[in-house]
Amino acid sequence: MPLPATAKARQLHPAVIEPGLPWLDDRGKHIQAHGGGIIKLDDTWYWFGEDRSRDNDPEKRYVACYSSKNLIHWQFRHQVLALSDPENFGHEWVLERPKVYYHAMTRKFVMYMHIDGRLPGNSSRYSIASVGIATCDTVDGDYRYQRHFRPLGRESRDLGQFIDDDGAAYLIFESRPSHGFYIAALSGDYLDVSREVCFVPAPLEGGAIVNYDGLYYVLGSGLTGWWPNANQYATAKRLEGPWSNFADFAPAHTHTWGSQTTNLIKVVGSTKTTVIYAGDRWRPEEHWDSRYLWMPLEIGDGKLALPEPKPWTIDIESGETSIEEQHQ
Ligand code: DGJ
Repeated sequence: MPLPATAKARQLHPAVIEPGLPWLDDRGKHIQAHGGGIIKLDDTWYWFGEDRSRDNDPEKRYVACYSSKNLIHWQFRHQVLALSDPENFGHEWVLERPKVYYHAMTRKFVMYMHIDGRLPGNSSRYSIASVGIATCDTVDGDYRYQRHFRPLGRESRDLGQFIDDDGAAYLIFESRPSHGFYIAALSGDYLDVSREVCFVPAPLEGGAIVNYDGLYYVLGSGLTGWWPNANQYATAKRLEGPWSNFADFAPAHTHTWGSQTTNLIKVVGSTKTTVIYAGDRWRPEEHWDSRYLWMPLEIGDGKLALPEPKPWTIDIESGETSIEEQHQ
């Protein structure tokens, strides 16, 4: 018997986030926003990420944008970047982990992305190790590629985004020769990085930061390619450090429940502030089918834990979350 329309809609768009399951947009398609970044403008959240759709042109690299008012149901907005190799990087060129910043004065949207490819004579397709910039006048319009560079003159691979509570914008980037990652302040127009805020001597990628209850928490993953590992966190009173020692935030044998850090989303509700771990479960052989692992973190007093993934929901007004007990 066919499902009534409302039941079908509920099945397609449940009122819960189901970590690890295909997450469908308003069109019923698996969300393509891998290695993503999330920003909030007024009452709307925008999720940007790598669009790895199976039918994409293999010579191009794509970024998609989705929007939501509750972080559960996402509307596809636009493929905001469909870029042909802009600077003869070679056909194996790489665009990963796009993040968008909104500059309130210039009213420009500025996308940062990991741009890579083979340097002449180098066997690694990750040897260019740089950051690319694209800009747009609207949040979900066609972004225009501007240039690529090495931030602070350093090799840069995985990048992460952090916008502090005072609106200050930072780029986090992993730098292999330094055996660690940098936190850098963006320049006045956001089109560059202007200043090293901190170098953290821990070889971690997928960096993400949240400012929670007067303490900064940074997360990162070990350097094991697409394969998950035991991601770690540290804390500091100031972004400049000193940072505490790094520790696991999920049982080590689960390899962060099979995921890799990408982003931390802070939801300040009327009764609770919730911090969501947004991670990727990569499927490198079937990139289009890579999944998302989003869970509310147990956070406070310098401690951080990622609970076992289960379906859960959030009330965006209050910030309260509830985790569903699964029925066998
Ligand atoms: C791990 C990174 O986090 C991903 O973004 C990607 O660069 C893979 N490595 C490539 O192996």
